[in-house]
Amino acid sequence: MKIDPWSSSQYQDYGKLRDEFGIEEFAEDDWFGLPHPHRLLRRGVIFGHRDFGRVKNAIQKREPWAVLTGLMPSGRMHLGHKMVLDEVIYYQRECGAQVNIAVADIEAYATRDMPLERTDELAVGEYLVNYIALGLSPERCRVYFQSRDSDVKDLAWKLGRKANWSEMKAIYGFGDSTNMAHVHAPLIQAGDILHPQLERYGGPKPVLVPVGVDQDPHMRLTRGIAQAFRLFNVTKTRDGKIGAFVKTDERVGELLDAAEGELKKLGFIDMKRIDDYKALYVNSASSFDLPAIDEALARIEPRFGGYGFIPPSSTYHRFMTALDGGKMSSSRPESGIFLTDEPAEAAKKVKRAKTGGATTLEEQRKNGGNPHGCSVYELFAYHLIEDDGELAGIYESCRDGTRMCGECKKLGGGLIEKFLEDLGEKREKAREMVGEFIEQNA
Ligand code: TRP
Ligand code: SF4
Repeated sequence: MKIDPWSSSQYQDYGKLRDEFGIEEFAEDDWFGLPHPHRLLRRGVIFGHRDFGRVKNAIQKREPWAVLTGLMPSGRMHLGHKMVLDEVIYYQRECGAQVNIAVADIEAYATRDMPLERTDELAVGEYLVNYIALGLSPERCRVYFQSRDSDVKDLAWKLGRKANWSEMKAIYGFGDSTNMAHVHAPLIQAGDILHPQLERYGGPKPVLVPVGVDQDPHMRLTRGIAQAFRLFNVTKTRDGKIGAFVKTDERVGELLDAAEGELKKLGFIDMKRIDDYKALYVNSASSFDLPAIDEALARIEPRFGGYGFIPPSSTYHRFMTALDGGKMSSSRPESGIFLTDEPAEAAKKVKRAKTGGATTLEEQRKNGGNPHGCSVYELFAYHLIEDDGELAGIYESCRDGTRMCGECKKLGGGLIEKFLEDLGEKREKAREMVGEFIEQNA
């Protein structure tokens, strides 16, 4: 199995994907204890993660951390796009995240033949305006265009030192006819993801990238590059302890001094240092302490000319199924709800949507419906119903055959209509604010 970030394939078996690519399952333990956990986290819509623990720890200890997302403007924004923004806004509001939003105009230019001016128009008029209407705040928020950001572009070409061609081919399936701008695009995305850790943006810190699983190849590439640039390698040793190893040959003694000092401050007293091995063994630590030790040592590295990149974390959300059962896509208006749909039109789409209901009412009364294969239920769970008890009530009554699809469609149609009307009003105000987001931050 291979994931192609530039095709629009749908992935059915999330468990299998997770196992194949080493993505961790995202379960109750992962979100429990966060402030007002968002419905996408609570309901298993976020099904996987990498290193979310670092982020949770930063949130709970109120340490600096960042969330980063990129938008590749292609057509109109739909509810599928909204999911990542809901996450971002939650982290901004409730969890103290610094928000970074990359307009992926270089990527659109390189992979979709999209002129830069066109991306600009779509990014601002369609995407950013909706982001603001959905609740994105200008506070602790940076919005930038890839093509105009020298920090990101410079970082991108530097990161290329630690990615070789065979790796790029293996991850992305690039070949002889891939254009060079496309070959370079993943490095720009790696630049997006890692630049919040540059000194100018506050130095090493956990960074969360909420994505659909189609973006995981970029996460794998970026995490590998981040690791390759580190001056310390922090790992579990064979006897189950933690070892920190200096990876360069320069200033080894000083690096070990600094590491020792830093880890003492964290309360690790029992350490063994072997300069010849360029190693510092933390005897009293277990693998539980590894992220904290790794992060402490990452923060030393900028003093020694390194970047100290902490591997970026990610969450993976499920894709929405199309209302008509096919693929949801901007090129098929019937397939989904777009944020600029006429509210009454959107309600009609819900009324026509494919549900998990039985073929006849009798049969449904007898055997119940199937909320798992129902695009209307999905709308409730992902977007429209906040109260877990209410959602559970719909689920139960669908299963036991006391609820008919007409009732759901009526409820769903009404809720979507109201949601879009309200969003439309907020968009008017957002249009006045959008300049503030970009001018202040670009
Ligand atoms: N490649 C992403 C897409 O196709 C857009 C993107 C660019 C992005 N840079 C990013 C996503 C950084 C996450 C993080 O939609
Ligand atoms: Fe879906 Fe509601 Fe029909 Fe059940 S009753 S299949 S949840 S529309």
